[in-house]
Amino acid sequence: MASLEFILEHTDSNSKARAGTITTDHGNIKTPIFMPVGTVGSVKAVNQQQLKNDVNAQIILGNTYHLYLRPGTDVLEAAGGLHQFNGWHKPILTDSGGYQVFSLAANRKITEEGVLFQSHIDGSKHLFTPEKVMDIERSIGADIIMAFDECPPYPSDYTYAKKSMELTHRWLDRCFNQIHETPDKYGYTQNLFPIVQGSTYKDLRTASSEYIASKNAVGNAIGGLSVGESEELMYEFSALCCDILPADKPRYLMGVGTPWNILENIALGVDMFDCVMPTRNGRNGMLFTSKGIINIRNKKWATDFSPIDTGFTCETSNYYSKAYLRHLFVAGEILALQLASIHNLAFYLWLVGEARQHIINNTFNNWKNEMIKILKTRL
Ligand code: GUN
Repeated sequence: MASLEFILEHTDSNSKARAGTITTDHGNIKTPIFMPVGTVGSVKAVNQQQLKNDVNAQIILGNTYHLYLRPGTDVLEAAGGLHQFNGWHKPILTDSGGYQVFSLAANRKITEEGVLFQSHIDGSKHLFTPEKVMDIERSIGADIIMAFDECPPYPSDYTYAKKSMELTHRWLDRCFNQIHETPDKYGYTQNLFPIVQGSTYKDLRTASSEYIASKNAVGNAIGGLSVGESEELMYEFSALCCDILPADKPRYLMGVGTPWNILENIALGVDMFDCVMPTRNGRNGMLFTSKGIINIRNKKWATDFSPIDTGFTCETSNYYSKAYLRHLFVAGEILALQLASIHNLAFYLWLVGEARQHIINNTFNNWKNEMIKILKTRL
């Protein structure tokens, strides 16, 4: 089977926004794209049919850290990989655990060898090395597998950020070695994406972007952003990385973000995004819509019988009323979580689809600036 390819179809004439197609052995992905997060192999509160038919998801994410702890690689291998296990037969990307180990695990200890940590579930001890993480990602069987990196906290002092970046680069070499030495497990190609680090230091980000670019991978990621820095800093460093990372490969900005963060980063040349925001905020009653932001728990929606959002095609968003969804939240009904999650994800996928059309038509930049004002409006 074939390695991932990126066909760059068009670059906007007034920004660096790009429209393209990523090809994988599990199908194609039209970019720019948003990838719903399915941490344990399940996008919270949304089933695979809904992801396909209502949300229009083209690729979803899984997390190595969680899938390794539960159900474990023995179960995933026995199933024939995550696609077979969860019934999602389109592309999947797995994050490496290089982020979750630092945000979730207890008593973690970083050495040259890897990260020793205790499970957040039962306190059991584990060692993640670049080689081990590649083996686990092989067993999970995603189409795109992320390198094992260290995501330093914000702010980090210069000395720490530099040491951490250099460690991430050495780990990256070990990830590539391991991938080259181990065959694809399930007959289709698994593609390793390296990750730029370097915190918020221009010389480090430049050095890291150049190092990552020199690896000539089929796609590249920008990590270590949206970790507490200002939006201006995030855009500044995303722009710096995009300008160095090769133009003929997809660029993935990890863990970003709000709808306006996504549009601003598309304008800088980012092609792929993931974030828990649409699902997590949805479960808390925060809806992103084509007219602005809604806190659906607010009393003002109690007798608003208009649909959640008619700005785009989604059966859930077009069918159920704001008043009904508010009632479900107030009553603590689990359907509330499902409808809000489907709506928010469908909205994110619609937004990146619109961005793509505007890029192709060279109308992206003006549209983006007008759209961002609407997206930030509190209704
Ligand atoms: N998710 C969000 N940010 C990061 C990062 O810097 N590294 C990894 N591996 N995952 C992320």
